[in-house]
Amino acid sequence: MSVELRRLEPRDLDTVEEIERASYPTPWSRAMFVAELRKPSSLALGAYTEEGLVGYAFVSRYVDAWHVMNVAVAADHRRRGIATTLLERLFEVTASDPRSGYTLEVRVSNLHAIRLYECLGFEARGIRRGYYTDNREDALIMWREPASSEEAS
Ligand SMILES: CC(C)(COP(=O)(O)OP(=O)(O)OC[C@H]1O[C@@H](n2cnc3c(N)ncnc32)[C@H](O)[C@@H]1OP(=O)(O)O)[C@@H](O)C(=O)NCCC(=O)NCCS
Repeated sequence: MSVELRRLEPRDLDTVEEIERASYPTPWSRAMFVAELRKPSSLALGAYTEEGLVGYAFVSRYVDAWHVMNVAVAADHRRRGIATTLLERLFEVTASDPRSGYTLEVRVSNLHAIRLYECLGFEARGIRRGYYTDNREDALIMWREPASSEEAS
């Protein structure tokens, strides 16, 4: 299976919404995706196979670091390295940014995603209690240090 990575475009949002609704208990709305695509501080990458769009990742630049806002892969394309490829490309694209550290929140029960992030060099740094409004689940806060400090260590 060959996978091509490209910037997401508004015309991709129907498929993004399908993957999103199948992936999360509280999916992002169309308006949230549109707003994220329009933000100059955001990057949105899609993974495409011959079947079309099968996964996406949104990251956004904040004062302290890049934040991973959303990552999802269609269920029948998981465990093939697509989320890894998407995030690694985003790390490359943002590597020259002095604030190229990354952070994210993930549900403490989402062990698959936590494992993915650990494989990519993220470490757990704290807990936000009751962060998720649907079930008051805690969020694990994870950080990945900037490339320069990786090289220095
Ligand atoms: C989490 C998610 C994005 C992973 O996408 P993916 O393309 O399957 O991930 P990868 O194939 O790159 O996985 C990389 C590594 O992460 C870990 N991992 C990912 N999914 C896993 C699973 N279901 N079970 C165990 N480990 C898993 C493994 O270590 C895997 O490496 P391996 O396959 O060589 O063992 C995907 O499962 C998904 O869309 N989940 C629903 C949405 C979600 O939870 N997003 C994260 C929100 S914070």
